[in-house]
Amino acid sequence: MKVAVLYGGTSAERQVSLATGKGIIDALQERQHEVVDIDFQGSRSCIEKVANLDVDVVFIGLHGRLGEDGKVQAILDMIGIPYVGSGVFASALAMNKHRSKHFFAKEGIRTAKEHVVDRNTYDSDQFDTDLSFPIVVKPNQEGSTIGLTIAKDEETLKKGIAEALKYDKSALLEEFVSGHEVTVAVMGEKYQEQALPVVEIVPKNAYYDYESKYAPGGSEHYVPARISESLTKQLQEQAVSAHRALGCDGYSRVDFILPSEGGAPVILEVNTLPGMTPTSLYPDAARAVGLSYSDMVEKLLNMASH
Ligand code: DAL
Ligand code: MG
Repeated sequence: MKVAVLYGGTSAERQVSLATGKGIIDALQERQHEVVDIDFQGSRSCIEKVANLDVDVVFIGLHGRLGEDGKVQAILDMIGIPYVGSGVFASALAMNKHRSKHFFAKEGIRTAKEHVVDRNTYDSDQFDTDLSFPIVVKPNQEGSTIGLTIAKDEETLKKGIAEALKYDKSALLEEFVSGHEVTVAVMGEKYQEQALPVVEIVPKNAYYDYESKYAPGGSEHYVPARISESLTKQLQEQAVSAHRALGCDGYSRVDFILPSEGGAPVILEVNTLPGMTPTSLYPDAARAVGLSYSDMVEKLLNMASH
C-alpha cells in the first residue's frame, strides 16, 4: 500500500510525535509499504501537500493540537483519503479534557472533581475555588503532562494556572487523586472494540511526568497490571465505554488512576492518537497480546476508514 505518515507538527508534543512518526515509518517500511512522510507544520504549503496526496491511506502520527484534535482529519475527509483512527468529532472532543468528562460521567465512569478557568475571564485577584488541595492544573487541551502543575497551596496554584494558560485558552483544575496510574489500550473496528491487557505504570519520579514518559528507563510498565481480575475487567469495560462514548474509531488509549484510598478507578482522559514511541504504552499493550510493533501498525492500517 502507499501510505502517507503525518508527524512532527507544531504542538508542544512535537518531539514525542517525531519519535512516534519514526516508529510508524520504520514499521511500514519493514512491511514493504511505500511511505510518503510529511512533517506536518500546519502551514499553507503543508496543507497543500496533504490536499494533493495521492496515497491509499494516511497514518496520523501527530499528537496534540493541529493533529490529534480533528483538524487534520477534516482536511482528509474533504479530499476523501481514508486515515487510521478517530474522525473529526471524536478527536476534537477527546482533546478537550473538560468536555469529554461529561460523556464519561454519563457512562457512570468516575472523574475527578474539576474547575475550569478561562483565559478571558480569569482574574488572579478574584480567583476562588471549592476544590481541596492538592490541585492538578493543566492546559485543557494538551498532552504528555506539558504545562502541568500539582499545586499544594494557593500561590503555586496561581502560578500553575498562569503556566497552563500559556498553552491553551482554558486551564483544567482537578482535585489530585493519589494512587497508581494505569492505562488501557483499545483496538478494533467500530462496535467490535476490545480492550488489551491493562498496563500499570510505575514512574521513577514521583509522578508520571514528561521525563518518566519519554526518558529510557523513566518508568516501568507491568503488563498485565498487578491487580485483581475483577478490577482488570472493570477497567477494560470502562475503557471501551469511554472510547465509544466519545465516538472513537480504530484505536485509543484510556488513562486512569486507581485511588490509594480505594473506590472506583478515576478516568483521566482518552488519547485518540496515543504515543507510539519506543517507551510508549500502547505498543507495550499490543506486545502483550502477541502483536509486535509492526504487526500492530499493520493491524491499525487495515482498520483505516472514513
Ligand atoms: N499524549 C501522548 C502522546 C500519549 O498520550 O501517549
Ligand atoms: Mg494524553
